[in-house]
Amino acid sequence: IIAVLDFGSQYTQVIARRIRECQVLSKIYHFSTPAAQLKADGVIGIILSGGPSSVFAKDAPMPDKALFELGVPVLGICYGIQLQGHLLGGKVSKSTHREYGNGVLTLQKPGRLFKGLPKKLKVWNSHGDRLIALPPGYTAIGTTENSEFAVIEDRKRNFYGIQFHPEVFHSERGIDVIRNFLLGICGAKQDWTTKDYIKHSVQTIRDQVGKERVLLGLSGGVDSSVAAALIHKAIGKQLTCVFVDNGLLRAGEREQVEKLYADHFNIDLRVVDASKLFLKRLKGVSEPEAKRKIIGNTFVEVFEKSLRSVGGAKWLAQGTLYPDVIESVAIAGNPAALIKSHHNVGGLPDRMKLKLLEPLRELFKDEVRAVGETLGLPREVVWRQPFPGPGLGVRVAGDITQEKLNVLKAADSILQHEMMASGYYWKVWQSFAVYLPVKSVGVIGDERNYADVISLRIVESRDAMTADWARLPYDLLAKISSRITNEVRGVSRVLLDISSKPPATIEWE
Ligand code: XMP
Repeated sequence: IIAVLDFGSQYTQVIARRIRECQVLSKIYHFSTPAAQLKADGVIGIILSGGPSSVFAKDAPMPDKALFELGVPVLGICYGIQLQGHLLGGKVSKSTHREYGNGVLTLQKPGRLFKGLPKKLKVWNSHGDRLIALPPGYTAIGTTENSEFAVIEDRKRNFYGIQFHPEVFHSERGIDVIRNFLLGICGAKQDWTTKDYIKHSVQTIRDQVGKERVLLGLSGGVDSSVAAALIHKAIGKQLTCVFVDNGLLRAGEREQVEKLYADHFNIDLRVVDASKLFLKRLKGVSEPEAKRKIIGNTFVEVFEKSLRSVGGAKWLAQGTLYPDVIESVAIAGNPAALIKSHHNVGGLPDRMKLKLLEPLRELFKDEVRAVGETLGLPREVVWRQPFPGPGLGVRVAGDITQEKLNVLKAADSILQHEMMASGYYWKVWQSFAVYLPVKSVGVIGDERNYADVISLRIVESRDAMTADWARLPYDLLAKISSRITNEVRGVSRVLLDISSKPPATIEWE
């Protein structure tokens, strides 16, 4: 196992992810983990992550110095190289500003870390302090414009330091550097695949949970679905899933969830129909934030009640992924986790005295999808587009009624159908319909028809932070539009939203 000591870098999980990409087993440890524990865990190599701190800061995170005596290779990245300088007799210069951005690395010799790589490489920097004198035993093997000691090594003890960030995408061939460390220097085995990950997770879940019962709030989205399938594989009938029908789901969604989990996976699934309650609470409310609050609070209330009715459970499982977790290791000394707003059950585990089970906590989205595929979840679930927690509640602009929801569901269902049939569903980030709070005049036969307006929102995005409207073929748009106006009673007009984010957002409310 490779240990990644976390000094609070925003890239620590990216390092762990790169190690998984090399199919090597690793584990992230708190920076202060005693060397004796690393040894007991069978660690064969240690990576010291970067971090926001300066080694000169009063409360700078410091590792157990004894880790340098374990006889295993150590690679320090960014803050990690400064730690080596600081703790092993080199000299670090204090800086008042951080150096960000691209640089060019020139290698004097490849050393073991850069074996097989070109002499010049584009690298990505983000550091404040820097090393200005080598600790005894080290030699410099690479320089950048700003650093004489961008790459250092002590071949005898197998200690290595890199000033820049090989783990980030902007550092050319960075993954090869990490692979050289893992395979060439630590002698790690490449035997860590998605199947192994699942096997390991299943065992961890069994060890954690024992004979106790687990509850999981299933939303039907990728994360909670994969978590459910994984936990079910581990503990079978000890898992109960609760799915809340808030009345703001898309057409057929509840039935799909029931079919997949109860029939296919034979999971103990409790569907709670709370649609009437949600609609009652939302009646006459048109302000978006007010709607979101009502939906969120009602969800927690209904979910809590249904959990109580299941009874006897000691664990609450959630499909929290790494990007949902905010860690404050270096600052506070203890990691704090925020639960994503979608499964907004914050406070609930405490109130109900439930322990949290989060088997996907260390994974990125694409890795979760790989786990889902390996577990046999269908493509429609694994590659499903994101759907907001408040559901159609934020897609009926203005106040919500059952009639408006019915119109929106029918229009949205046609849109989804055509997107799937043309294959564009899998190519765009999201595609959905929005019910607008206006009416427009149309004509059917010889009759004036004063009716509803639907907008199509179809966007491309990498991470939902920015987005642009998808340039779909006109013929496809024409087909969607004419099907909606012909087949959905009460719709006279279909619009295409051609705003990007920013300044617009993806959802309308
Ligand atoms: P916006 O509208 O802010 O949306 O551009 C960005 C992404 O987040 C989704 N979204 C939500 N997801 N709960 C969620 O789980 C929410 O309240 C929520 N609001 C927006 C949205 O669908 C898009 O993918």
